[in-house]
Amino acid sequence: MTLLSLRRTRLNRHIRELVRETHVRPGQLIQPLFVIDGLAERESVPGIDALYRDTPQSLLRQIEADIAAGTSKFLLFGVPGKKSANHFDPTFTAQQIESIRHRFGDDLWLAVDVCLCSHTVHGHCGVLNAAGDYIRNDATVEELAKAALCFAQAGADCVAPSDMMDGRVAAIRAVLDANDGERTAIMSYSAKFHSRFYGPFRLAADSAPAGSNRLQDRASYQIDPARPTDALASSRRDAEQGADILMVKPGLPYLDVLASLSRQIPQPWAVYQTSGEQAAIDLLAHNDLIRRDAAQLETWLAFNRAGAAMIISYAARRADAILRHA
Ligand code: PBG
Ligand code: ZN
Repeated sequence: MTLLSLRRTRLNRHIRELVRETHVRPGQLIQPLFVIDGLAERESVPGIDALYRDTPQSLLRQIEADIAAGTSKFLLFGVPGKKSANHFDPTFTAQQIESIRHRFGDDLWLAVDVCLCSHTVHGHCGVLNAAGDYIRNDATVEELAKAALCFAQAGADCVAPSDMMDGRVAAIRAVLDANDGERTAIMSYSAKFHSRFYGPFRLAADSAPAGSNRLQDRASYQIDPARPTDALASSRRDAEQGADILMVKPGLPYLDVLASLSRQIPQPWAVYQTSGEQAAIDLLAHNDLIRRDAAQLETWLAFNRAGAAMIISYAARRADAILRHA
């Protein structure tokens, strides 16, 4: 009697290629971009390879290079120079969207993050109450909807609210539909956790919550890591309110959530491999403790096994080199 051999289908790279069930496609990757108002020269983002805080001019050059290298989907973060406590001005980001669209037409797909933490003096994702200890929900949603409409009218294909206020997807869908914006998609950060893996991003986007008020961190609006049930409720709600794409963020620490939600809710799922996750890979590689691109591919495969349709990754622009390790 012959025992089942699991090794026969692993013996060489040809048979391994033939029996694979999961693949990563370059077309499913989304590259984040940061553009900074008033920046004289582009800067690197600490801890992450080939990631920059761009000026409006360098942003266009970067996108041109990315498109030439085969990356055509982007998630844009606009960082305005002027910070305030309320009445935020989305003009700087809108102008970048317009110039991107003018230059590249439909050679790219452009999603734009909608949040207020790069606008506020305190770095929180919304409008603070007078006592300084609470982010006001509806006042924040009103500002988000205004920004989302402005980005849609500037030419964004998709708006992506990342603030975690209640009701923002419904409000954004309503204002888009009422203003000729029915073609603009909404990608909701529906399962966004209160994570420690956002560090380099906050430097890049100038959005670290300041400790100088009575609200130290984002725990009162982002999902508690020990509350996966909230991720389900929040994703169901956002789907009902009209989100076209749902998201789990961060990625690897929340793979269980992605696997479970993507099976329960039949919408396209995005996963956000966050700045802290990326820095972990890149820093290991710089210390010769990991092979960077092969490790990157391993994480992307994990996202696909768990049910991701699309992957937001700071390494998307290196997909060519990374997928060679398949
Ligand atoms: C801001 C926002 C964050 C990220 C995307 N949008 C950070 C945060 O909530 O503090 C995280 C991205 C990353 O770490 O890569 N609302
Ligand atoms: Zn925010």
